[in-house]
Amino acid sequence: MSIIFERLTHIYDASLTTSQVALHEVDLEVMDGTFSAIIGETGSGKTTLVQHINALLIPNEGCVKVDEFVVTKKKKENKNLKMLRKKVGVVFQFPEYQLFEETILKDIIFGPKNFGMNEADAIEKAKEVIQLVGLDESYLEKNPFNLSGGQKRRIAIAGILAADPDILVLDEPTAGLDPQGAKEMMTLFTTLNKDHNKTIIMVTHDMEHVFHYCDHVVFMKDGKVDKNCSTKQFFEDIEYLKSMDVKLPFIIETKELLRKKGIVIEEYVETIEELVNRIQNEVKKHG
Ligand SMILES: Nc1ncnc2c1ncn2[C@@H]1O[C@H](COP(=O)(O)OP(=O)(O)OP(=O)(O)O)[C@@H](O)[C@H]1O
Ligand SMILES: [Mg+2]
Repeated sequence: MSIIFERLTHIYDASLTTSQVALHEVDLEVMDGTFSAIIGETGSGKTTLVQHINALLIPNEGCVKVDEFVVTKKKKENKNLKMLRKKVGVVFQFPEYQLFEETILKDIIFGPKNFGMNEADAIEKAKEVIQLVGLDESYLEKNPFNLSGGQKRRIAIAGILAADPDILVLDEPTAGLDPQGAKEMMTLFTTLNKDHNKTIIMVTHDMEHVFHYCDHVVFMKDGKVDKNCSTKQFFEDIEYLKSMDVKLPFIIETKELLRKKGIVIEEYVETIEELVNRIQNEVKKHG
């Protein structure tokens, strides 16, 4: 099982003179169970790409396949979109703006009830997911509008998780959060990926998050996938990163600066501790 894009083209306002080709014949496969980052400069097509995964957008050409679901431009073939949308939960940028009920409980159970779950089961699910996002049950009776920005975002994510999607699509989920809030959010996604077997597809501009949390990278450029590889392969290709003007994560940049000073660390290191140990070894070697 995986998500497969086949020669997918998306054109905004196709019938108008102002038409805009946002995606051009994209081929891409995202494997089940992975935590993939979708990156690339602004306007490269990231949001357009991920909005096809649950058919919020429909391709002009080509298709996207998610297990047994196939989304194409032929309307009558796009059956059962409701079930696809249960399978693929999409968290938009600033999801907290989509909260609308007067209690958190009502907000969270809205999704699962919409997908056919009875009220009692939906309430049980709400109790489960509120804890999953790091808040306790006492929040369920609170008004979502009285919470902090980070808490509101957790509630919005809980609402998506309550429908028990297999795939979670996140469009810039940490935008606007303070560093601690962003870190907690990334830890939550890692837990969902590793312990709850959710496939995660995250659009982001934060290369530290890509480096530390994701296992695959899809680099978009001008409406096409320019590179699709493991995170390690991506950050080892310094020439490519430079040519695409990608901001280097701290560890990669430090290794690069050391290399220029003649201290070459061959291994791919992922933590500061590892990096410090390697530097120490090099220093010892050279006296
Ligand atoms: N609703 C729309 N109508 C017309 N054109 C659009 C629309 N949404 C996006 N576009 C265009 O499609 C292209 C891809 O946009 P998209 O939003 O997918 O980029 P992105 O990579 O998500 O950018 P960002 O990093 O700024 O969020 C851009 O050229 C953009 O101007
Ligand atoms: Mg976008």
